[in-house]
This record gives sequence, structure tokens and C-alpha cells, in this order.
Amino acid sequence: MQETAPPRTYRVKSFGCQMNVYDGERMAEMLAQRGIAPAPEGEEADLVVLNTCHIREKAAEKVYSDIGRLRREDGSSPLIAVAGCVAQAEGEEIMARAPAVSMVVGPQAYHRLPDMLDRAVAGERATDTDMPPIAKFDALPARRRTGPTAFLTVQEGCDKFCTYCVVPYTRGAEISRPYADLVEEAHRLVEAGAREITLLGQNVNAWRGEDGAGRGIGLGGLIRALAKVDGLERIRYTTSHPADMDEEMISAHGEVAKLMPFLHLPVQSGSDRVLKAMNRSHTADSYLRLLERFRAVRPDIALSGDFIVGFPGETDAEFEETLKLVDEVGYAQCFSFKYSPRPGTPAATMDGQIAKEVMDDRLQRLQAALNRDQLAFNRASIGKRCAVLVERKGKYPGQWLGKSPWLQSVHFTGEVQLGDIVTLELVEAGPNSLAGQLLAAVPA
Ligand code: SAH
Ligand code: SF4
Ligand code: F3S
Repeated sequence: MQETAPPRTYRVKSFGCQMNVYDGERMAEMLAQRGIAPAPEGEEADLVVLNTCHIREKAAEKVYSDIGRLRREDGSSPLIAVAGCVAQAEGEEIMARAPAVSMVVGPQAYHRLPDMLDRAVAGERATDTDMPPIAKFDALPARRRTGPTAFLTVQEGCDKFCTYCVVPYTRGAEISRPYADLVEEAHRLVEAGAREITLLGQNVNAWRGEDGAGRGIGLGGLIRALAKVDGLERIRYTTSHPADMDEEMISAHGEVAKLMPFLHLPVQSGSDRVLKAMNRSHTADSYLRLLERFRAVRPDIALSGDFIVGFPGETDAEFEETLKLVDEVGYAQCFSFKYSPRPGTPAATMDGQIAKEVMDDRLQRLQAALNRDQLAFNRASIGKRCAVLVERKGKYPGQWLGKSPWLQSVHFTGEVQLGDIVTLELVEAGPNSLAGQLLAAVPA
């Protein structure tokens, strides 16, 4: 590689989960701290960070085609860093196959991006896919700017090893960030403008720590502590795992007013045989019973989940059990995916891989059921009054977009400001959003 001029502008493109979005924001902050500016919309950046996701099909191919697209007419490219989970899984191969890439940095090492950048400017290519537990967070700059909603990573990594999933390999073992650091970062985010914080983790409810008095607490305890931060009005968390749910977490939903009535709890399948083959540590019934405990303390809680159709060996009858579970729960919204064999995972080499057409058909049927329930949930909200956090301007003059407590998108018009929490009456419902009427510019 040749020496290049230090970059003046950057662009970070994040794919995948919200933790990647958080990581992308933190990388952007580090670059900004070095005096590098975000590239204006539509203009080429001197430095491009591709913050990649490896969870499903064709992740690596997508990275190579993105790299190809960055090539200029004269054959040169901007400085390119590949970050995220594909970097972790296939870093060496990327370096070998894509000479335009000068930096490969894994999700646990991105605090070293500025040093790598110095080396790249000097003409040296560098790969860093170390997994030093937690060191990253200490090395990141303080948060300075955010909109009304912000992410806060509290936990990383996964020890669950579901047989289809790459995350334990790309993100490493479960680790929890220390309590004091999180309380501090929450204060900084609120000072920077956040009114809602979503706590993030691959298994966010596996978070464990010690509070100020040295007592061992879980995520429910952390949420209770964060609820005391003045100016922070709403707390959410994602994604949780059924096996890590405890009474402290469930009761928080009944006791902490700032904790929003929404639970994203992936189940993946309604068939116990499939769940076992997936190495999920729950059954359909234990999952349903867990949801009942949440509903008992918070009857209006909105439920969400993740599903995989076409796991190796899944029969028609087993798929029907998934549809049955969906009917029993009545989800407010969900994510559903076709099974995608991931290199290096146990399920990729299992017998009984399912034909694409069968998967397509099952996904379509599942999504029809989930869409039906989502619309029903939204329609049932008509006539309700609720507090909405104003998050963005809408498409039309005077229009605003915000979220209900149940994570529904709501649009409305009125004299309000970004970050206000206003009282609306929900008057119309579609599958993906609702219309509201402004009742008061303050919450009821
Ligand atoms: N840690 C979270 C989810 C991480 S990945 C959890 O366990 O809940 C997000 C979702 O992607 C998973 O819940 C699963 O539904 C889906 N997913 C993961 N690996 C997949 C694969 N190989 N094929 C299809 N979907 C997958
Ligand atoms: Fe993947 Fe399972 Fe871990 Fe979720 S719990 S990240 S699905 S291995
Ligand atoms: Fe994707 Fe990595 Fe998140 S694989 S879903 S970016 S943890």
C-alpha cells in the first residue's frame, strides 16, 4: 500500500443489529474527535467504515460488492476499514481478497481504529480481531451528542451457542460492563439530549453487576438504578433470552414507571423437538408461562419475538406448532427469517436441510399470521390516549413522528419540539404505524 493523505471526511455504514449501530456511532465519535468530519450526503468520503453483519446469508459477498462499489473511475479507492462481525469471522480472507481494504477491525477491537488509521495513512495494512474483555469501552471518548433516543450497550457476547448462530464466534463470550460506567454513560447521554435509552446486549438480560453498595444485581436492578437519572424518561432493552429472565427483571415491569411496556423475547420455534435441536434452553410451554408472568405484572405489555423457519429437519407438523404458538401469544410485532446455514455452526452440517421453496412457503404463512396480529394490535390501540416521545420530523410540513410506549410509530401534527413527550389520542391504525391527535403538549 502507498502512503495517503490523512482523511478529512468519513462515512460509517452499519449493517445488522442495534449493537452494530451503537458500535458505528462510537467509531464515528472517535473519528470526529480526531477532527475528521462526516462526509456530506451524496459526496464521497475519504474514509469509509463498513460495519458488517454475519448473521444471515451472503454477508461476505455483500462486503466484497460494497468494496467494489467504492472504487473510483481511475481505479483508486478511499481508505476502507471493514469492521463488525464479518471482519471478525473472515478478516484474513478479506485482507487477502480485497487489496483496497487497509484496515480490518473486529467488534471487540474497534477502539484501536484511530491507531490503525495512522498506520493506514503511512501505507501499512492492519488487522485487529483480538477480543480483550471490555477494554474497548474504557478507551472510547465520552458521549457528546445524541437525539432524543439513544442506545447504550451494557452487555456483549453470547455463551448460549444456539446451533444455527454465529454470534458466539463473532462477538465472543458474555461480558457485562461495570455498573458505575453505565450509570455515568447514562448521565452523559441525558446531558447530550437523550430522553429515552435502549439498553443493548446480545443477551442483555444476562447482564450482572454490583450496585454502589456492592450488592449483586441483574438487569432489573440496573434498570431501577437508571430510572433515578433525572431527565431520563423512558427505558427499553433488547435483546433478551428466556433463560436469563429472573424475578427482579419481571417485577421491574410492574414497578418502574419509566420502563416501557414492551418485551422482545425471541422464541425461534413452537416445536420442542426443533427447540432442542437448536440448543434453545426453553420449551414452547416454558416460554408461554414466562410471558404470563410478565402479563401478570404488566397486563398491557406488548410482545415481540424472533422466528426461524426451515431449521434442518423441521417437518410440516413442527412448523404448524410455530403457527399455533403465534396464535396463542398474539404478538404486537415480530421478526421472522428463513434458516441460513452459517459456516462453522453445528446446524450447517445437520441432516435434513430444507428446500428453499418449502422455506419460502413457511415464511410466507408465518408472516401472514404475524402481520394479521400486528394490525390487530394496532387497531386495538385506536381510542387510547398515550404519551408519545417526539423523535423526528415527518414527511409533511408540521408533521412529527414518535413512538408510543408499546413501540408503535405514531405520526401527528402540532406545535411541538423534538424530544417532547406529548399526549396523543390514537385515531387511525395501519399495519406499520398509527395516526394520533395531539391532546396536550405535555404527558397526562
Ligand atoms: N441474541 C439474540 C438474537 C441475535 S440474532 C437472541 O438470541 O435472541 C437475531 C435473530 O436472528 C435471532 O433471534 C434469530 O431469529 C435470527 N438468526 C440467527 N441466526 C440465524 C440463522 N443462521 N438463520 C436465520 N436466522 C438466524
Ligand atoms: Fe445467537 Fe442464540 Fe446467542 Fe442469540 S442466544 S446470539 S440466537 S447463540
Ligand atoms: Fe449481525 Fe453481529 Fe449483530 S452478526 S446481528 S452484527 S452481533
